[in-house]
Parts: sequence; structure tokens; C-alpha cells
Amino acid sequence: VTALLLLFLACGQPSTEPADTADHARGTDTGATALDGQAMGYDRAAACGECHPQHYDEWRRSMHAYSTRSPVFEAMAAKAYRDSAGEVGSFCSRCHSIIGDAEGDPGDVTYEERSALGQEGVTCDICHKATDHDLPLGNANLQQDPMGPALGPFDDASGRDHTVAASDFTASPELCGSCHDVFMYPGLAIEQAYSEYIDSPAAAAGTRCQDCHMGPTPGVFDPRPEEPIAVTDDGYDWPARPRSSHRFIGPDYALVDDWPFPDDLDASAAAQADNLELVEQLLQTAVRIADLRFVQDGGSMAVEVAVESLIDSHRVPTGFTSERQLWIDIEVVDVNGRTVLRSGELDAWGDLRDPHSQAVQDGSQALDAQLVNYQSDNWTVVRGYDNNGQFSTEGVEGLATFPFEAQEIVRHSLEPLERRTHRFALDDASAVPPLTVTVALRYRNLPPYVLRALQADDLVDRLIIFTLDEASASSP
Ligand code: HEC
Ligand code: HEC
Ligand code: HEC
Ligand code: HEC
Ligand code: HEC
Repeated sequence: VTALLLLFLACGQPSTEPADTADHARGTDTGATALDGQAMGYDRAAACGECHPQHYDEWRRSMHAYSTRSPVFEAMAAKAYRDSAGEVGSFCSRCHSIIGDAEGDPGDVTYEERSALGQEGVTCDICHKATDHDLPLGNANLQQDPMGPALGPFDDASGRDHTVAASDFTASPELCGSCHDVFMYPGLAIEQAYSEYIDSPAAAAGTRCQDCHMGPTPGVFDPRPEEPIAVTDDGYDWPARPRSSHRFIGPDYALVDDWPFPDDLDASAAAQADNLELVEQLLQTAVRIADLRFVQDGGSMAVEVAVESLIDSHRVPTGFTSERQLWIDIEVVDVNGRTVLRSGELDAWGDLRDPHSQAVQDGSQALDAQLVNYQSDNWTVVRGYDNNGQFSTEGVEGLATFPFEAQEIVRHSLEPLERRTHRFALDDASAVPPLTVTVALRYRNLPPYVLRALQADDLVDRLIIFTLDEASASSP
């Protein structure tokens, strides 16, 4: 694992970053000067909010604003740093806190230790001062001009209050892809939302990430409201324009109480509840149970469940697929109400009964042999040096908990618009027909075993399982 993490540093970096070394505490041991984001030209989101109050209000409730506040991110980045003895450097901050990274925050920095701008995570100016991407696209290989104009979609916006310019890059999927493709040398793809997208029907039709993720309905290409994009003190009537949403709804949600309003827990709770409704709405637009039926399987019965992706843009789940769980929860009972098959229910620890399950590992609960889960597998090969001191290519394959421990990440997610049929065998000869099957499609953003591996057990209770679709059927 350490050898692999060493290679993190071979990946590209945003061009505003100071000369990197494996371990740069804020401008100390490396001789690099600590830089100040504001001196570089970046402004705080709240300052933009003076005239763009709606954009600010939406952004601050988004996962872009949460990207450094997230306790899971912080614990996972700290683990990657520890496990690699610091060799991972500030890789994890590259996308989650570009400005903090440019300011020289070390890889094990805590949220409290970050500068004000570093704490803002993916803040306004990161997207609005990004002029282009470098190659390879991904890993925050962004070019930035923090002193330059605010780049946006309009070629006739007023420059009265600050310089503005229209930018094809801001309006392109490549802006998003610059952070939504995460990879490690040599070629380990950790997140591939953008790579999945470029070959998709949506890309062929010219539908952009912004169309689905910055419109009024999360995940859907809807027309935008026509309204002013700025509200200034002088009461000037700025023209109505198609206004984008900056909420960027995805499956993640806050796991802390004092966010997005640190001084107002009630307002934070209300904002989080509102967010969760949109998360559920987004996920429900993405996938459904397309068919459910009993079939003859040789001498015995089986159940077939067809699951269908309803989106043509990237896989479901996409992005952080090593942790996203989308699974089939199925129960078949016979006429006497006796359970004949059960798959997809949780173990005593709240995990699926897969090889990650503690209960399965300690033998107290059986492996869920028929489990259908679209989460990725992080395959690792434990290698070592042979007697001649040569690095051995022979090794034992195993499942790793974290993507950054993997040599290969195998995706099981549904391709755009894919319909996949799964067959569940019913080999209980004593089942008395007719049988009834109930199926639910469930989704969880993070599994409990990951939180426990991060010593974040206290967050497990906050995890939410969404039900995306349900169906039932009876045998003849
Ligand atoms: C993750 C990148 C990202 C972040 C962060 C971001 N924006 Fe944007 N913003 C965009 C994109 C992309 C567009 C253009 C949308 C399109 O092309 O459809 C945009 C459009 C705009 C516009 C033009 C009007 C409109 O509604 O389309 C304004 C004004 C704006 N953003 C302000 C802000 C402010 C203020 C913040 C911070 C509070 C912010 N943005 C944060 C990506 C971002
Ligand atoms: C003092 C008020 C004020 C502040 C502060 C302000 N803006 Fe603006 N911004 C405006 C006005 C006015 C427009 C033009 C509105 C129009 O023409 O409809 C604008 C336009 C924009 C556009 C659209 C550019 C285009 O060509 O599409 C973006 C993007 C933008 N601002 C981002 C930001 C960001 C990011 C910040 C903070 C760093 C910020 N603004 C701070 C007033 C302000
Ligand atoms: C046709 C509409 C559409 C387009 C275009 C689209 N998405 Fe999505 N996206 C969705 C829907 C619906 C979901 C929820 C289902 C899922 O998680 O895959 C989603 C989920 C996501 C998620 C959350 C993934 C997770 O499970 O953690 C990310 C990140 C994302 N999209 C990024 C992008 C990026 C980047 C692009 C462009 C390269 C893009 N999307 C293009 C509709 C779209
Ligand atoms: C500077 C890097 C960066 C850019 C550019 C960027 N993102 Fe993100 N995005 C992130 C990070 C990091 C997160 C995860 C934050 C977290 O929860 O810790 C994220 C989260 C998201 C989510 C929420 C995912 C979830 O699981 O809830 C969506 C949706 C999303 N981004 C879409 C977009 C789109 C669309 C664009 C382009 C307009 C874009 N992003 C541009 C870094 C970026
Ligand atoms: C190239 C950009 C990039 C880099 C580098 C990166 N991430 Fe992320 N990260 C993202 C994006 C984009 C998302 C949102 C993906 C989604 O929702 O599908 C994300 C989501 C996450 C999440 C889930 C959201 C949350 O806050 O709980 C965690 C945890 C996380 N990243 C940890 C890390 C760690 C640890 C590292 C370093 C080993 C790292 N990331 C490096 C872009 C990046």
C-alpha cells in the first residue's frame, strides 16, 4: 500500500500550487513560502453573496461547501496520510480544497487548522476563475487565474461591479470532469463520473453535467427560471437570465449538526431535512425495478428481478462507487408465511452480509450468497519481496476497505440506461406454493464498516437508507 501511495505524487496538480514536496507543513520544512489565498486573488464566498445572495445560499448548502467540513473526508484523508507515512502529501485536498492546497496545507490538516478560504472547500472562485484544464483531464488539473475576471456563461453580463467574461470552459463538462475523475498512477480509476459521461448517449446529444445538476430539478434537464442573477444595494434592476442552481444535489448529506449554519442548529437541521428530500428525489429518478417475476429454473422455481437505469449520462451509482451501495433487498415467503429466501438484509452491525461484514468474518452470520449490490470492489494484491530481494508479482487477492488501498477497482454499477436481470434461486424444496416475493431497491451513501474503519463509529447512526423502488409478485 505504501509503495502505491508513493505514486500519488506523480499525478498532476493545479497550476497555482507552490512547488510540492511529500510533506509540506505550511511553508516550514520545505522552504516553500506559505501563500495566502486572498493575496492570490481569491475572494470569500460570503463576499460574492453580497450581490449573488441566491447563489451563495444554495452553494453553502451544497456538498461543494461541505467538502472540507466532512468528518468522513477528514478521517479518510488522515488515514491515507498515516498509512503512507505522509507520502500521499496533500493529494486529498487537491479537489476538496484547491485553495487550501495552494496555500500549503499539509495532507493531515484538520478542518479547524485550515485558513478561512481553505475551509470553504470548492468555493465560488475555484470554478469561476478556472480558465482551462491541463492533461490528463481529472485530478484537479485546472488552470486558474485568480486575478482574472469572473468567468460565466453569459457574453453580455455587466462588468460594473467586477470584471466578467464569457467562458466556454465554465459551461463545459470538462470543468466538472477536472475534479470528478479521480485516478492514481498507474491507471487506478477511483472516480469516473466524467469518463463514463464522455461515451454516454447524453454526451452524444450534447447534454452537459450543468444541464442536469444545475437546474431546478436535481438530475433532470429542466428549463431554468428567468430571474436576475445579481441583487445589488442600489436596487438596480438587473435583467432576467436563465439562473442556474448551485445546490449540486448528490447522494451525500451532512453528518454533522452545525452545518451549514454553524451558529444555528435549528436552521441547520431544517436545511439538512430539505436537502434529504432532494437527495431522495434525485435517486428515485435514476433507477427502478423494471420487472419482477417467478420463473422455472430447471426443476425448481426462481425469481427474476430486472433493474433499470433511467439515466443516459453516466453509471448508477457513479463517482465514489467504492462506497456507494445500491442493492436488492428481497424476501420470498410461502403460503404459510415461512421465509424461503432472504437476501439484502443487514447484519447485526448494520452492514450487508458481504465479505466486508464483521458478522460474516467472525462466523456469527452467514454470507449472503445471492446478494446483488452495485457497489465497486476494491481489489488488492498483497505482494512482497522474494528471497532474491525482487518485488514479487505473485500475491494474494483480497478486498480492501478503501479505494486508495486498491490495485484494481471493479465496478458493478449500471451503465447508462442499462437493464440488468438477476436470477435468485429458490432451492427450498419444502416451500409450499403459492409463493410471494417482495423486493425493494435500497441505497446508502456509505457503509458502516467504512466508518468503523475510520474510528467514526459515532456517525453510523446518522446513515440513511433510501428506498428507491418497491415491487411484489406471487407465483402461480
Ligand atoms: C463547482 C463549480 C461552481 C461553484 C463552486 C460555483 N459556481 Fe457559479 N456557476 C458554475 C457554472 C458551471 C455556471 C454556469 C452554468 C451553466 O453553464 O449552465 C455558474 C454560473 C454562475 C453565475 C451566472 C448566473 C447563473 O445563475 O448561471 C453566477 C452569478 C454564479 N455562478 C455565481 C456563483 C457564486 C456567487 C458562487 C459561490 C457562492 C458560485 N457561483 C459557485 C459553477 C460553479
Ligand atoms: C458588488 C456586487 C457584486 C459582487 C460582490 C460580486 N458580483 Fe458577480 N456580478 C455582479 C453583477 C452586477 C453581475 C452582472 C449581472 C448581469 O449582467 O446580469 C455579476 C456577474 C457575475 C457572473 C456572470 C459572468 C458571465 O459573464 O456570465 C459571475 C460568474 C459572477 N458575477 C461571479 C461572482 C463571484 C464568484 C463573486 C465573488 C468572488 C462575485 N461575482 C461578486 C455583481 C457582483
Ligand atoms: C441526464 C442527466 C445527467 C447528466 C447529463 C449528468 N448527471 Fe450526474 N447524476 C444524474 C442523476 C440522476 C444522478 C443520481 C444517480 C447516480 O448517483 O448515478 C447523478 C449523480 C451524480 C453524482 C453523484 C454520484 C454518487 O453516487 O456519488 C455525481 C458526482 C455526478 N452525477 C456528476 C456528474 C458529472 C460530473 C456529469 C458530467 C460529466 C454528470 N453528472 C452528468 C444525472 C445526470
Ligand atoms: C474543484 C473541484 C471540483 C469541481 C470543478 C467540481 N466539483 Fe463537484 N464535487 C467536488 C468534490 C470534492 C465533491 C465532494 C464533496 C464532499 O462531499 O466531500 C463534489 C461533489 C459534487 C456533487 C455532490 C455529490 C454527492 O455525492 O452528493 C455533485 C452533484 C457535483 N459535485 C457536481 C459537479 C458538477 C456538475 C460540476 C461542474 C459544474 C462540478 N461538480 C465541479 C469537486 C469539484
Ligand atoms: C481529483 C479530485 C479528488 C481528489 C484528488 C480526491 N477526491 Fe474525494 N471526492 C472527489 C469528488 C468529485 C467527490 C464526490 C464524488 C461523488 O459524490 O461521487 C469526492 C468524494 C469524497 C468522499 C465522500 C464525500 C464525503 O465527504 O464523505 C470522501 C470521503 C472523499 N472524497 C475522500 C477523499 C480522500 C481520502 C482523498 C485522498 C486519498 C480524496 N478524496 C481525493 C474528488 C476528489
